[in-house]
Amino acid sequence: MSSLPTQLAARIQAVTGTDPQLRPATKPQFGHFQSNVALRLAKEEGRPPRDVAADIVAKLDVEDLCETPDIAGPGFINLRLRSDVLARVASDLITDPHVGIVQVEQPQRVVIDYSAPNVAKQMHVGHLRSTIIGDCFNRVLSSQGHTVIPQNHLGDWGTQFGMLVEYIVENRLDVSTFDLPEVEQLYKDSKKTFDADPEFADRARRRVVKLQGGDEETLRIWRILIDVSLQGFNANYARLSVLLTDEDLAGESTYNDDLPRVVDELEADGLAVEDNGALCVFVEGQDAPMIVRKKDGGFGYDATDLAAIRRRVNTLKADRIIYVTDVRQSHHFEMLFQVAQMAGFLPDDVEAQHVGYGMVLGRDGRPFKTREGGTVSLASLLDEAETHAAPNIALAAIKYSDLSNGLQKDYVFDAERMVQTTGDTGPYLQYAHARVSQILRKAAAEANPNVDPEADLESMVWGRISVLDEPAEQQLALLLSRFGEVVEVVANDLTPHKLCTYLYELAGAYSVFYEQCPVLRSTGEVRGSRLALCAATRRVLARGLDLLGIDAPDRM
Ligand code: ARG
Repeated sequence: MSSLPTQLAARIQAVTGTDPQLRPATKPQFGHFQSNVALRLAKEEGRPPRDVAADIVAKLDVEDLCETPDIAGPGFINLRLRSDVLARVASDLITDPHVGIVQVEQPQRVVIDYSAPNVAKQMHVGHLRSTIIGDCFNRVLSSQGHTVIPQNHLGDWGTQFGMLVEYIVENRLDVSTFDLPEVEQLYKDSKKTFDADPEFADRARRRVVKLQGGDEETLRIWRILIDVSLQGFNANYARLSVLLTDEDLAGESTYNDDLPRVVDELEADGLAVEDNGALCVFVEGQDAPMIVRKKDGGFGYDATDLAAIRRRVNTLKADRIIYVTDVRQSHHFEMLFQVAQMAGFLPDDVEAQHVGYGMVLGRDGRPFKTREGGTVSLASLLDEAETHAAPNIALAAIKYSDLSNGLQKDYVFDAERMVQTTGDTGPYLQYAHARVSQILRKAAAEANPNVDPEADLESMVWGRISVLDEPAEQQLALLLSRFGEVVEVVANDLTPHKLCTYLYELAGAYSVFYEQCPVLRSTGEVRGSRLALCAATRRVLARGLDLLGIDAPDRM
């Protein structure tokens, strides 16, 4: 079953033969939805728009969903949903396992490339954003019935490991007892030595060759570095309560065996050419080429991403591939998609998208740095937020500020502000959910004094919404009925901030309802109907927060 506006739009399209661009009405007196299709058609046909609107309305078959349509102003068509329809749709949310989220007819296989931290370094603020945003996409697309295949493209390969392993061997260190911050320090120390001591640098380069050649001892140490790093990453994932698991790992090194073949193919096709000793693919309209094999014969980030996209299409059978990284990598992905298309790795019917996000800024409005000028670790950000609030609230605060602005925008990490339970914050929405829960809990206790106060509200039976006489009830039911439509938009455009805005509006509409319409103090059918409205609101808030990766507590 499609959402109400989708159904309405289809009805109008059946009359006009063109997309009516149905929008939520801007003011309550315009009803619930509005279309300007008559104005557009009138221009084409050279007729008065109000006449065109009248013709459309005369032929329109929406009686089962709407009151009689109005024609307003120069020829807008205003639609108001029938109260009984609103009541039915909102009531269904209480029992619908999908809470109104429309299940897609043709589920896709969607690869989402996110998180992707680098071995031997702690996850930093950028990885925080990638992890939170990617996880939200994962939840939203899964909720519609798509098969999501997360890919954690771990940075676990490259010449830096030659340097690091050489340093470990020469200093006879047992890194298996190290934690991630200690390994990161080692990385910094080895880099210092590398820069200062040309002989060490030579030995480090020879170590790279050993690593690539599969030398036992070198590989053994490299694997320990990965294990130690993964322990650190997994601790972060657990703290962030994201869906990523070890099964989603597909680090850069897993493409090593594919690289020579991928590059040979590019060369055989004439796409890759030698330039200054490196093998490059030049793309029209781009200044710099993609470097698929470096001067020294090694493969790098570009070649690895080509092998990855090829595997995602051929082996993982992706219909859609979404990459979540810093916006500064958008150029890399533009080139990647172009080259992959030219090489035949990315067929036309597979959609590849890069979602770039902005930077996290300090309160001074500058990129977030430690006092020493280093990058800020993800763990220290979580620690800071947790000095202001309990862990589940601190996490809600962070995730919501990450998702509630346009993703491309930079945002200021202001822990004190984002943990507030007032204003447009994650904790405010959690609080709204706790407030609705409290009413339901009281109602349950009134009905049965022996009810366990910790009983699961979700499993209790709430009646249906049958009375929507008050404007506040109408407004709340209308917003509830739009949840499915909002999720659809967010899934198509990858714009989580629209879900945030919606939930914020819903919490606001609930507040107005709560002030204007007594629930527990009302009686009879009205009381039952209002309790049902509360139950529907609670479910939509909980499901909506869950799609953002935010926990919805019953008490706060
Ligand atoms: N490891 C990279 C970084 O930290 C991100 C990798 C993103 N994914 C990809 N397929 N290139 O910036």
